[in-house]
Amino acid sequence: TLLRTQLSGDEIIVVSNREPYIHEWQGEQTIVRRPASGLVTAVEPVMRACSGTWIAHGSGSADREFVDAHDRLMLPPGHKDYALRRIWLSDEEVRGYYNGFANEGLWPLCHMVHIRPTFRESDWETYRAVNRRFADAVVAEAHSEDPVILVQDYHFALLPAMIRERLPRATILAFWHIPWPNPESFGICPWRREILQGMLGSTILGFQTRNHSQNFIETVDRYLEARVEHEHSTISFRGETSFVESYPISIEWPGSAASADWPSPQNCRDEVFSQLGLRAGQRIILGVDRFDYTKGIIERLQAFEHLLQHNPQWIGEVSLLQIAAPTRSALADYQGLHAKVHDMVAALNARFGRAGYTPVILQNVQHDQRWLARLYRAAAVCVVSSLHDGMNLVSKEFVAARDDEQGVLILSRFTGAARELSEALLVNPYHVEDVAQAMQRALLMPADEQRERLASMRMTVQEFNVFRWAGHILSDASRWRLRERIEARV
Ligand code: F6P
Repeated sequence: TLLRTQLSGDEIIVVSNREPYIHEWQGEQTIVRRPASGLVTAVEPVMRACSGTWIAHGSGSADREFVDAHDRLMLPPGHKDYALRRIWLSDEEVRGYYNGFANEGLWPLCHMVHIRPTFRESDWETYRAVNRRFADAVVAEAHSEDPVILVQDYHFALLPAMIRERLPRATILAFWHIPWPNPESFGICPWRREILQGMLGSTILGFQTRNHSQNFIETVDRYLEARVEHEHSTISFRGETSFVESYPISIEWPGSAASADWPSPQNCRDEVFSQLGLRAGQRIILGVDRFDYTKGIIERLQAFEHLLQHNPQWIGEVSLLQIAAPTRSALADYQGLHAKVHDMVAALNARFGRAGYTPVILQNVQHDQRWLARLYRAAAVCVVSSLHDGMNLVSKEFVAARDDEQGVLILSRFTGAARELSEALLVNPYHVEDVAQAMQRALLMPADEQRERLASMRMTVQEFNVFRWAGHILSDASRWRLRERIEARV
């Protein structure tokens, strides 16, 4: 309601690479699927609350004409109140813009995981051209001179300036969902100036943590002739001023309609255990990630191996269930990760497995929200061991799903979420023994300590939910607009 009041009369347009719903052919039928994406988890409830238009890259296999014609009607029940406009990209555009510049260039550039970024001139050109296509779509969709445009993530660094040129009165709020590196690291990008200039078309530039927004400000200070006012967190460049701030993203609370029909934790355990063929009384350590090298899946497996090796009482008693949702599988670094993880799982299972006991269950699939909620509620421990992560919403979803206040969260210090969820068992994912010890501690943690930790984290997620995130950015934007108007009068 607060969001609607803040936006009353404003036209809202969201731009992201991922679409919130993917339409796919399944036999003769079209089905609707939610992608595994923290961005979608966070932004979709905001759109449902505010309405407007969401422009995204159309990625499903369903017939394009059919999907375009059903941009409202094809959404699942209760989700009809915003329009989805797909941009269909050619294979060459996907290769250059998404696989190439975004995911082989910017992704490793921004995540400190020691994967070398690859920069190709042709990818950069395609990235620019695709940003231009999205800018055209924004202008075509805008019905007013001053819409509120929410540009999401590193796929669209150039979009803010491209939109600003054509809609000078728009309020452009760009949010960078992933970390922003320090100036030295960012400086290796051959197009560092162009990227910074593109982003500075925004009214507000949002990052997940203060550290990332400070890194951004220092990067601009280093590479552009811009006026940086550290005290006010503003950057003035070529007559325009942008406000740079951190807005830690979050999840919906109260949960979506789905949370109303959550079975009791015991029923979730029964359902999950029978699906997985686990013996009653066994315990699950759960990992839920996209199958990405930033998520520390290899390190998690090493830690689990260490746990079983040094605490053999858990052999036969505890299984690691790793959900690894497919993502970017056309890229060599991701294929290498798949192969390595599959080999490690096979070796671990050969070493510790026995009749009726599989130590590691790896599911390289994407589950729907309903099933994930059951997994969160059935698990004894949830482990998030990202090597570097802008925020990580799996940790917040686990906390939200545990209304029984039982279960333990192990969380990497190198996630944005660790700043808010300090009652989790915080670990350094590079330190295998540290993570193994946290697993041991989690499995032995008394129920009242679990309750205290979860109760505190639940209060945090409840209070700092995604509506608060959006409300914070939007109220800063309206304050900013007012201030500009007042200054223009002087
Ligand atoms: O939040 C980071 C992010 O890259 C989003 O932009 C994206 O939707 C999500 O992770 C999933 O990645 P992908 O869409 O490439 O599978």
